Amino acid sequence: MIILKTTLVPLLLLLPAANAAWDASRFLWYNSPAANFTGAVPIGNGRVAGVVYGTGTEKITLNENSVWSGPWQDRANRNALEALPTVRTMLQNGNITDAGQMVLDTMAGNPNSPRAYHPLVDMAFDFGHNGTLADYTRYLDTYRGTAFVTYTVGGVNYTREYVASHPAGVMAVRLSASQAGKLNVKISLSRTQFVLLQGSTVNNSSSSVTLRADSGQSSGAITFTSEARILNTGGTVTKSGNAIQVTDATTVDIFFDAESSYRYSSQSAWEAELKKKLDSASAAGYEATKNAAISDFTSLTGRVSLNLGSSGSAGNQPTDTRLANYKESPNADPEFVTLYFNYGRHLLAASSRDTGSLSLPANLQGIWNQDYSPPWQSKYTININIEMNYWPALVTNLADTHKPLFDLIDVARARGQEVAKIMYGCNSGFVLHHNVDLWGDAAPVDKGTPYMMWPMGGAWLSAHLMEHYRFTQDKAFLRDRAWPVLQQAANFYYCYLFQWNGYYNTGPSLSPENRFIVPSNMQRPGATEGIDISPTMDNSLLYELFTNIIETCNILGITDSNLTKAQDYLSKIRRPQVGSKGQLLEWRQEYAEAAPGHRHMSPAYGLFPASQMTPLVNSTLSAASKVLVDKRMSNGSGSTGWSRAWVMNLYARLFQGDTVWSNGISFLQKYPTANLWNSDSGPGSAFQIDGNFGFTAAIAEMLLQSHSVVHLLPALPSAVPTGSVKGLVARGNFVVDMQWANGALTKAVVTSRSGGKLALRVKSAVPIAVNGAKYAAPIDTTAGTSYTITLA
Ligand SMILES: *[C@@H]1O[C@H](CO)[C@@H](O)[C@H](O)[C@H]1NC(C)=O
Ligand SMILES: *[C@@H]1O[C@H](CO)[C@@H](O)[C@H](O)[C@H]1NC(C)=O
Ligand SMILES: *[C@@H]1O[C@H](CO)[C@@H](O)[C@H](O)[C@H]1NC(C)=O
Ligand SMILES: *[C@@H]1O[C@H](CO)[C@@H](O)[C@H](O)[C@H]1NC(C)=O
Ligand SMILES: *[C@@H]1O[C@H](CO)[C@@H](O)[C@H](O)[C@H]1NC(C)=O
Ligand SMILES: *[C@@H]1O[C@H](CO)[C@@H](O)[C@H](O)[C@H]1NC(C)=O
Ligand SMILES: *[C@@H]1O[C@H](CO)[C@@H](O)[C@H](O)[C@H]1NC(C)=O
Ligand SMILES: *[C@@H]1O[C@H](CO)[C@@H](O)[C@H](O)[C@H]1NC(C)=O
Ligand SMILES: *[C@@H]1O[C@H](CO)[C@@H](O)[C@H](O)[C@H]1NC(C)=O
Repeated sequence: MIILKTTLVPLLLLLPAANAAWDASRFLWYNSPAANFTGAVPIGNGRVAGVVYGTGTEKITLNENSVWSGPWQDRANRNALEALPTVRTMLQNGNITDAGQMVLDTMAGNPNSPRAYHPLVDMAFDFGHNGTLADYTRYLDTYRGTAFVTYTVGGVNYTREYVASHPAGVMAVRLSASQAGKLNVKISLSRTQFVLLQGSTVNNSSSSVTLRADSGQSSGAITFTSEARILNTGGTVTKSGNAIQVTDATTVDIFFDAESSYRYSSQSAWEAELKKKLDSASAAGYEATKNAAISDFTSLTGRVSLNLGSSGSAGNQPTDTRLANYKESPNADPEFVTLYFNYGRHLLAASSRDTGSLSLPANLQGIWNQDYSPPWQSKYTININIEMNYWPALVTNLADTHKPLFDLIDVARARGQEVAKIMYGCNSGFVLHHNVDLWGDAAPVDKGTPYMMWPMGGAWLSAHLMEHYRFTQDKAFLRDRAWPVLQQAANFYYCYLFQWNGYYNTGPSLSPENRFIVPSNMQRPGATEGIDISPTMDNSLLYELFTNIIETCNILGITDSNLTKAQDYLSKIRRPQVGSKGQLLEWRQEYAEAAPGHRHMSPAYGLFPASQMTPLVNSTLSAASKVLVDKRMSNGSGSTGWSRAWVMNLYARLFQGDTVWSNGISFLQKYPTANLWNSDSGPGSAFQIDGNFGFTAAIAEMLLQSHSVVHLLPALPSAVPTGSVKGLVARGNFVVDMQWANGALTKAVVTSRSGGKLALRVKSAVPIAVNGAKYAAPIDTTAGTSYTITLA
């Protein structure tokens, strides 16, 4: 199915691939099957997801987001509490190396790692199409969230359609042949580990293949049941071992679901849920299920449309060809950036949806995983990666996708309260370290001084709830959902922080995941260490947390000690320091850096995602951050996809549009795999989805910022002199549509969804008019009203 550029929706025409113009900012498409997992196209309904290979014998690698490697583990180290005062004294005395070693010895979780995300099952369709597949096309429609495969064999046109339905909670597939009775297919489910039961049942018009498996423990294993329900038109159905063989059919529809013990207390309960969803979807039928899924998905993806200019013929190539061409001639294909932006929104809508009270957020691989030992367990790494996943959620108008993160934070809070008691002797508040799993495991993870001991995960995650309020202006959310998290996050630090040198300090802690050289007046001089007292990022996280508490108290009318305590602590957090080269300091002293080109941008947290160090808020600090980021980059940072994406966001906050764009080009030339997923160091290295989301956020951040005023085109690159965007969202709950030409705003329409004050700035504060009247000061808006902004 090929879509002409001019007919975005509805899709009316089906044309042969060779003659058609694809919408270059919407489709990933290919003339050959995927070579591997990172070439297969991803779809998902926020809980069940899969990648489609489009191979002759079709392979779909399926996931369900609660299928992980095992039950909850209490890993908190009981020696931590006793060691804490000693470690702090050693750090204060400059005994850095021994303190770090003592932290590893007494505070590491046991075992070191939380649980890993596991694959679900593979679904295979064996058509016997093992010869040449002619006229081959497969695609992913990032707007509709659907995948498609078509080819001819023996003069018959075969097609496969795939859709993941959030409303129905299932995946649906339609296989068809252009000639009656020409479709033969054997449908099977398989898994390489921990299979408990497999089977198939054959009925006249509705058959099924089932597979039940677990995570291998003798007790408490996460167990699931999966089923492919098969409905054929024409032909006969027979059982073939654990598979189903359909012979001489014309169309076969398949509905797939899996349910697990994570959300249901008994096998009969999760299997009843499975049956309910499959009965309901198969009774509705493929067409109705598909249409409802598409209307749901497009209700999210359709909120934003971006135009950064047309690529012409350079965009009208298969995606793998485009990716290769982009390495040589990036300027020929600006729509590749738009496609990558749209793909990021597709990936978020496919991997992160509200599926009930135990929704799970996008993990290191979003929701797509084929390994039993995936890179970094494909878990939730919260010293940058999972936060980055949600950077595009609010500004690109996908606030609904944020909710699973809040569900996981609630699960983790309960665990974090226990760990706060056990490790730090804190009886109120919660602590999270640098990773959690689906159980909210709050203990330190792995064992090494540059990454393990970081008690700041709760502070960072709590900021997401505050930002959710800032964008949505939802006071009920602020009171009922955000405030308890902020309060509990702060309560931990009120207990945990220690006074020294006139400040409240963190420690033992670190600057994720960097290391410094121990200076000559400390122990042991010349050693490379990570653990210290009060790194800059910790102070910035605390600054933001206490500021968020104060802001929330002001909004909710809270004037008790919750307010005064936050004010007191805020005044005693050390301000960011500037070093001898004008650079923002990463640690409490100007230590020599072991890795001046380090991939983490932790000290610049206050520039992005927070705002303490942004140019309009504090130009001294933004200048110092710029020196730091420039230095990192000239020493080789941006060395993973996600690092490069963070850098793009930082330069957007520094109003360096051309640098955002050039880093975007470098990103697209190096990191995307054949299916445009982000990778660690290029195709063949670990797939990690954070870079997809960070890139999408950076494109938005280039066009719209709102942490201090609603700032239109703050970092417009000269490579995109003309363009438009519709549907981005600014803090205050303003929807922004705008067009620009020759590098200048032509017109913007800002729609106020909640009323309130609108403070505006365009580019470097050029004179503007609102509804024709010169703009001089913030205006009071009325909910539901739009305001037209033009140059004055
Ligand atoms: C096969 O059918 C599909 C869907 O109807 C269509 O998009 C494709 O162009 C057809 N292929 C050929 C070779 O006719
Ligand atoms: C550092 O701590 C170790 C272990 O407690 C101790 O042996 C050593 O003397 C300390 N060194 C300094 C300089 O404090
Ligand atoms: C191709 O598929 C047919 C039908 O399934 C089978 O009989 C034949 O052995 C296959 N040939 C090869 C080379 O795999
Ligand atoms: C299948 O259909 C045939 C013919 O209508 C009927 O005799 C048979 O009982 C049906 N089998 C099942 C399992 O429903
Ligand atoms: C098929 O028929 C069997 C026996 O009547 C029944 O137990 C089973 O639920 C049916 N399966 C489906 C998928 O309808
Ligand atoms: C904050 O307010 C709650 C009541 O809502 C109270 O129980 C708690 O002690 C206060 N916390 C602090 C730190 O004052
Ligand atoms: C900016 O930050 C510096 C360093 O913390 C501080 O001294 C200065 O007062 C701040 N400026 C403003 C305008 O807040
Ligand atoms: C690191 O960056 C600094 C400042 O930009 C530069 O002078 C220095 O040459 C760089 N060092 C390396 C090894 O790239
Ligand atoms: C997947 O295949 C592509 C070629 O399409 C290759 O570049 C890449 O290294 C492969 N990835 C893995 C993990 O083997």
